[in-house]
Amino acid sequence: MIVAIDGPAGAGKTTLARALAERLGYTYLDTGAMYRALTLVAMKEGIDPEDEEHLFERASSLSFRFEGTRLFVDDEDVTNEIRTRSVNNLVSVVCRHRKVRELMVSLQRQLAEKGGVVVEGRDIGTVVFPSAELKIYLDASLSERVKRRVKEFEKLGEDVGLEMVKQEIQERDRLDSTRDISPLKKACDAILLDNTNLSVDEEVAALERLIKPVAKREKV
Ligand code: DC
Repeated sequence: MIVAIDGPAGAGKTTLARALAERLGYTYLDTGAMYRALTLVAMKEGIDPEDEEHLFERASSLSFRFEGTRLFVDDEDVTNEIRTRSVNNLVSVVCRHRKVRELMVSLQRQLAEKGGVVVEGRDIGTVVFPSAELKIYLDASLSERVKRRVKEFEKLGEDVGLEMVKQEIQERDRLDSTRDISPLKKACDAILLDNTNLSVDEEVAALERLIKPVAKREKV
């Protein structure tokens, strides 16, 4: 069974997807981390984020390996480095190119081919796994998403004000939901879950209730 979790920046997809994967004994696949890793490589190597061909070539030669919640690119652990603000602010430019997306989608399908996976991203229910057994569109109020991101930055030792984070999240959502190729949008058969006022435990419990009948139907 494939559980697809899409939604805007800071909606808590990562927290939910990891908790759910652990509860179900599923693999967790963070597709945003792959776009982030390519962005990091481009930044380090001075690749123009507008240069589709160059990005595509570089992405084609990279190997992505997930070990639990850690991501290795060409055997280098990039898990923490891909979460910085500079990557956040560039990733939406890197990920909007058609050739880059087609390559990433095919890698993501390979990584999830065995099933039993919780996949998070922006286009999972619409493009990557349109026939996923369960699709969730996770959302939360903008102010709640901003507060969560500020806390995450604090953990990384980055002191960023609420207003700045708000502008950055709004800009990333704008770019992600208005791009030409597979923009962020709720799949018509996805269930909308607003977690503004939910704890992680309440959220996971809500999802487990949704999964049970699906799992029964699929005889998982
Ligand atoms: O979920 P995240 O914040 O780690 O994702 C980083 C960026 O990657 C996000 O701004 C848009 C892009 N992304 C995408 O275009 N498609 C996906 N399936 C996952 C992420």
